[in-house]
Amino acid sequence: MNAVIRTENLSKSFGENVVLKDVSLDIPEKSIFAIIGQSGTGKSVLIKTIIGMMKPDSGRIWFRDTDITGFDRVDAVAVRKHFGYSFQNAALFDSMNVGENLAFPLIEVLGIKNRKEIKKRVAELLDWIELPGIELKRPDELSGGMRKRVGVARALIMNPEVLFFDEPTTGLDPVLAETINNLVVRVNKELGITCALITHDIPGAFRIADRIAFLDRGFIIAEGTPAELSRSEHPMVKDFIRISFNELET
Ligand SMILES: Nc1ncnc2c1ncn2[C@@H]1O[C@H](COP(=O)(O)OP(=O)(O)OP(=O)(O)O)[C@@H](O)[C@H]1O
Ligand SMILES: [Mg+2]
Repeated sequence: MNAVIRTENLSKSFGENVVLKDVSLDIPEKSIFAIIGQSGTGKSVLIKTIIGMMKPDSGRIWFRDTDITGFDRVDAVAVRKHFGYSFQNAALFDSMNVGENLAFPLIEVLGIKNRKEIKKRVAELLDWIELPGIELKRPDELSGGMRKRVGVARALIMNPEVLFFDEPTTGLDPVLAETINNLVVRVNKELGITCALITHDIPGAFRIADRIAFLDRGFIIAEGTPAELSRSEHPMVKDFIRISFNELET
């Protein structure tokens, strides 16, 4: 298997609170990789550690053949240009309109000054997420689903090779959740971007992910294809899956 991201025995504590314990996983190139598990088990911390927003206490993180664990700030910024991150709550700047929100990383991170080029790239992306022409709208004028899509567009604007999504469907009704899941599939299939997503939408994860990792109190307790996970004998994994799918039927 060709891993684009690999973690080896990643551990992280906050004081007494041990959040990640020897987390080793491979995220295959061009896959959709889902991370599931109960609230507060370290899913967001795991992703923040991988993208360099947090430092692990021990363990290693690889981006293809490059060990990015010990990188200083300058190197880390160069590597992070390959990563995109779509936050749990979309995190758009409310004081800026949609166009300015999307242009922000181009101007601030890539230092692009050519207004025409920026405008074109923003318009292309809004077309691509099927929200053409909303450049002048303010984030608070958008629905929750639209905000999430704009958040994804902002993460895409830097042409990342790996896009991390932290709960892209949380807070959306099932129909909107489906459109966001479909957007993740398009990002993966049409743009060839590896997608790593944290999600509470278990049926969604089983439908779109190539592989799923189940995190429990800092440990990976199961990892594999959806078919492999659904055959897991681990009591907690079995329960979690059963409850998630039952909720769908009632
Ligand atoms: N910056 C921080 N400082 C101290 N503790 C933190 C910090 N960030 C996270 N934690 C702790 O790490 C643990 C795991 O948090 P994390 O946000 O990774 O959970 P999660 O699995 O993403 O949960 P949820 O599904 O609710 O988003 C929690 O106990 C949390 O309090
Ligand atoms: Mg979280």
